[in-house]
Amino acid sequence: MASPITLLISLLLSSLVVSLGNFYNDVDITWGDGRAKLLNNGDLLTLSLDKTSGSGFQSKNEFLFGKIDMQIKLVPGNSAGTVTAYYLSSQGPTHDEIDFEFLGNLSGDPYILHTNVFSQGKGNREQQFYLWFDPTADFHTYSILWNPQRIIFSVDGTPIREFKNLESKGVPYPQDQPMRIYSSLWNADDWATRGGLIKTDWTKAPFTASYRNFNADACVVTNGKSSCGSGGSNTWWSQELDSTSQERMKWVQKNYMIYNYCTDTKRFPQGLPPECTTF
Ligand SMILES: *[C@@H]1O[C@H](CO)[C@@H](O)[C@H](O)[C@H]1NC(C)=O
Repeated sequence: MASPITLLISLLLSSLVVSLGNFYNDVDITWGDGRAKLLNNGDLLTLSLDKTSGSGFQSKNEFLFGKIDMQIKLVPGNSAGTVTAYYLSSQGPTHDEIDFEFLGNLSGDPYILHTNVFSQGKGNREQQFYLWFDPTADFHTYSILWNPQRIIFSVDGTPIREFKNLESKGVPYPQDQPMRIYSSLWNADDWATRGGLIKTDWTKAPFTASYRNFNADACVVTNGKSSCGSGGSNTWWSQELDSTSQERMKWVQKNYMIYNYCTDTKRFPQGLPPECTTF
């Protein structure tokens, strides 16, 4: 007979597994006519792209603040022309959005990780990076920490970008509109690889990206009501970058950043956006 302790442990374990996230419970496949698949009892999700169509999914829940992690393994080999987008977004013309987009490349050439932040319908805040590893060889964790003070983009726990709440300086900040998570794999060979010079090689199709270990430690909004109340009890609610994290972010930005709208004075002849010059 199982002892009460054994029963308690197995109960705890089963609830832990559930809270780790299962794609059957967490997402809806929204397009791609069978090209998006849930595998391994919902532990693994794959998106694929061929000449006819890409595919995509979205979270069942809408969130207003949270810490959201996803492990992604990008399209291997010749992925030129493909884009794997992973982002948070609300709806409508004045929507908010927090983006990761992975621009594919020829075999052996580096992917570009493209990031952007939209607030109240306005983006134009691109920052782009190379990665310090091959994102197609294995799964890596891409995280968005979004709290009332800041948005932090991280890769394998290393922060790469911070967007602060500077509403007091007149910069709109995403803080009122619940967002869903979206991901899609699609063809963008008119711009993605070397600015559109390199086209998708359809003889290599289908292209496949894989997802696992989705985790949303986040405030879920249902019928206008947040599961967090004031949010105060979550550690991420007031999280900021400590000095070690700031050093690591500087390291990434110094060595791997390839585009920063904040230094693109040609693009903003009337002056850089206020969040670029306010500290
Ligand atoms: C692809 O590789 C080329 C050559 O190394 C590089 O210039 C480019 O930034 C890479 N990434 C993309 C998405 O074009």
